Amino acid sequence: MLTGKRILLIIGGGIAAYKSLDLIRRLRDQGADVVPVLTKAAEQFVTPLSVSALAAQKVYRDLFDLTDEAEMGHIELSRAADLVVVAPATADLMAKMAGGHANDLASTLLMATDKCVLIAPAMNVRMWEHPATRRNLAVLRGDDVLVVGPDEGHMACGEFGPGRMSEVPDIVAAIGAALGEGPLKGRHVIVTSGPTHEPIDPVRYIANRSSGAQGAALAVALRDLGAQVSFVTGPAAVAPPDGVAVAQVETAREMDQAVRAALPADAAVFAAAVADWRVENAADQKMKKGAGGMPVLEFAENPDILAGVAQMSKGRPALVVGFAAETEDVVAFAQAKLARKGCDWIVANDVSPGTGIMGGAENAVHLITADGVEEWPRMAKGAVAARLAARIAEALGAG
Ligand code: CTP
Repeated sequence: MLTGKRILLIIGGGIAAYKSLDLIRRLRDQGADVVPVLTKAAEQFVTPLSVSALAAQKVYRDLFDLTDEAEMGHIELSRAADLVVVAPATADLMAKMAGGHANDLASTLLMATDKCVLIAPAMNVRMWEHPATRRNLAVLRGDDVLVVGPDEGHMACGEFGPGRMSEVPDIVAAIGAALGEGPLKGRHVIVTSGPTHEPIDPVRYIANRSSGAQGAALAVALRDLGAQVSFVTGPAAVAPPDGVAVAQVETAREMDQAVRAALPADAAVFAAAVADWRVENAADQKMKKGAGGMPVLEFAENPDILAGVAQMSKGRPALVVGFAAETEDVVAFAQAKLARKGCDWIVANDVSPGTGIMGGAENAVHLITADGVEEWPRMAKGAVAARLAARIAEALGAG
């Protein structure tokens, strides 16, 4: 809950401004006071009347509006807030912030504030990827500006890629986290992610196909609900997120040790694609082609990290969640896995090549619990993560 929190919401001029109306509503539902500021461009997308009706507040629009200055000066306006949120943060607003401009009400408030600032960028994918925006983003991060999103997906301009403003629940969660008010505050959650690499010799290894995108998204979502996250990751393509305790490992046995070292935890989520076997006769030196013919690899089974934690007799996390990546009979295999491993939930997905899920931006999962099977619609991996994190909070009695 955000009861009594005062949020200065700067709405930038982009098509995503319509989502800010819902954001105001959700923040007020949680007990926050929202003081809205509209840029000139934002007024082309949402009207001051609808913003003020939803916020039940005056809308601030103009730096030189003397009535405003008589009631509350712009310096005071920017400081009376607990948090300043910019949603949508357009490429132009980000550039102004990074450059320290103060030539309209929004940019002046952002310069004058002594409070934490959170931005939710939204723009066309090319603008998001433009070197100028990358530079501005790096400057803003360096200035301790918090950033939520953007998401990847289809955009209003008809293109596909990163640039779409985060969904409203994700922005609300990021606001809660920025204010230290998430429902998972004080809870510790372990997340495993990425593949493991099992060496054959010093230059070759066996691995699973896993980008680590779903695990990283989950760590972000749990962090944004206020959890203290221990993120144990194999060599993944996706970088570990900020604001979590990272343990980087290579093999399944190292991952097992890192998970055990991170215990105790309130919940543990095993999103890693762990190699089931390691090469027992891995060579110390690079194997060479030669007279000896083909090498024969001998395999040994790796520890099942999930089953080991789920079946702990003492100190088991209250909630243990596994993932099951299957290519056929998804639900039946996942249900069998739930029983065999002794975990509480399995998040099952179909990773057969036609789905494009492995390495892609979206996921379509079934949540399997003792109570039954829920089919979730196909959505961005970040959205799956946010929904799963919210369910974890609920299951831990923290929702
Ligand atoms: N898992 C684990 N340690 C292992 C193997 C798997 O922690 N050595 C976890 C994964 O992180 C995932 C779940 O167990 O949460 C299921 O992984 P999966 O590879 O689908 O299951 P397996 O037990 O390996 O079954 P199979 O390969 O036969 O489908």
